[in-house]
Amino acid sequence: MQKIKDYVEANKDRFLNELFELLRFPSVSADPQFKEGVLNTAEFVAQKLKDAGANNVEICPTAGYPIVYGERIIDSNLPTVLVYGHYDVQPADPIELWDTPPFEPTIRDGKIYARGAADDKGQFYMHVKAFEYMVNENELACNVKFMIEGEEEVGSENLGIFVKENIERLKSDVIVISDTAMISLETPSIETGLRGLSYVEVEVVGPNRDLHSGVYGGGVANPATILSKMIASLHDENNHITIPGFYDDVAELSAEQRKALNEAPFDIEVYKEDLGVQELWGEKGYTTIERTGIRPTLEVNGIWGGYIGEGAKTVLPSKANAKISMRLVPNQNSERITQLFKQHFENIAPKSVQVIVKPHHGGEPVVTPTDGIAYQAAEKALEVAFGKKPVPTRGGGSIPIVSLFEKELGVKSVLLGFGLDSDNLHSPNEKYGIENYLKGIQTIPLFHKYYAELKNN
Ligand code: BES
Ligand code: MN
Ligand code: MN
Repeated sequence: MQKIKDYVEANKDRFLNELFELLRFPSVSADPQFKEGVLNTAEFVAQKLKDAGANNVEICPTAGYPIVYGERIIDSNLPTVLVYGHYDVQPADPIELWDTPPFEPTIRDGKIYARGAADDKGQFYMHVKAFEYMVNENELACNVKFMIEGEEEVGSENLGIFVKENIERLKSDVIVISDTAMISLETPSIETGLRGLSYVEVEVVGPNRDLHSGVYGGGVANPATILSKMIASLHDENNHITIPGFYDDVAELSAEQRKALNEAPFDIEVYKEDLGVQELWGEKGYTTIERTGIRPTLEVNGIWGGYIGEGAKTVLPSKANAKISMRLVPNQNSERITQLFKQHFENIAPKSVQVIVKPHHGGEPVVTPTDGIAYQAAEKALEVAFGKKPVPTRGGGSIPIVSLFEKELGVKSVLLGFGLDSDNLHSPNEKYGIENYLKGIQTIPLFHKYYAELKNN
């Protein structure tokens, strides 16, 4: 442990500068305007993998953005760790809410502010630097493969094809992903599950054109009003979701499992204060930890229609739209839930409007094992690096490829995340603690070491 600590200390400035370089690339996968930025990021990642000691580095083209692959196979008798991460980031909008520009990383209060700082550039890059250390100091305990993709934030559609076509190349004993959060530096934790996702876009169409809201208002259904009512009806007075069949496949946790989950330290007052809300909200009968981890949800992500420019324009819009996400838990299935949503939404529409439901990408929920050696190795690595045994938690976010890896490669993942829920992922002022970054780099070689040891026993 002292050796890696010293190495990180000696190379700290360079590790930060390299991450800053990576963060300066605007690799927004959702917006075609950033195409160059995304492609240049892939080049940079490939070069850094080579510099760190990876062989057979390749920028693998897909129908979308490329996947960067690299490996170092030292001994076919040793276990192989596959590192997955993503070099693409979410759009930075609304840009005006950033205190410093999203693609000019800045340090404030020991934190690196930039889009992608925690999600996921700062996190996957820890693996590149930990790998550099293991190669330079002859401490590689496992074969290592890297697969860093550029389309995670838009649904990883092409990754599935890549995985199916590269089963042999991706052969490994465990997949390690640092793209989740821990409770805090004082209370390390490991996410042992991720929610799935169904994502739909809806359109409510009324009259064949926008109308004068005085001349026609009162006599024609207003799509914006109808859409609002329909959306409001999707939760009942207990904040349960009203779509028939929605909860049919939900795996309920046992009383002991729920108790264990709720033992993780969580301060409601601090949580409310951080978010600037007076009161929390959610499904009756469940705690906040449960509502955001083991229960399915339905959220409006965007809603629009009619006049939203400056001043007042009196208009009755001909359409209104919304983007709606549903987070899923075991054993829900994203296609089935999308179908149930569509049926229900069409059923509740009054005759005065027409509705169109358009499904987007989805993903399946997963639970990662806590009884295997990968979890044990991660637990031990975190315990040694942080001086405290990590607690298992359940993550609310989604990384759809985790279930795909399981299905296609038959390999389970361990979610070795070092971010914090308060890192402002997908929000303005995304950040990542310097301490989290450096501690992560120290922890990763320990994981490799313990994993190899446990695998041999
Ligand atoms: N890294 C996140 C997922 C995440 C965040 C998991 C925090 C656990 C804790 C990932 O990049 C992400 O944002 N995923 C998307 C899904 C994707 C299909 C767009 C998400 O969760 O919204
Ligand atoms: Mn991510
Ligand atoms: Mn993300």
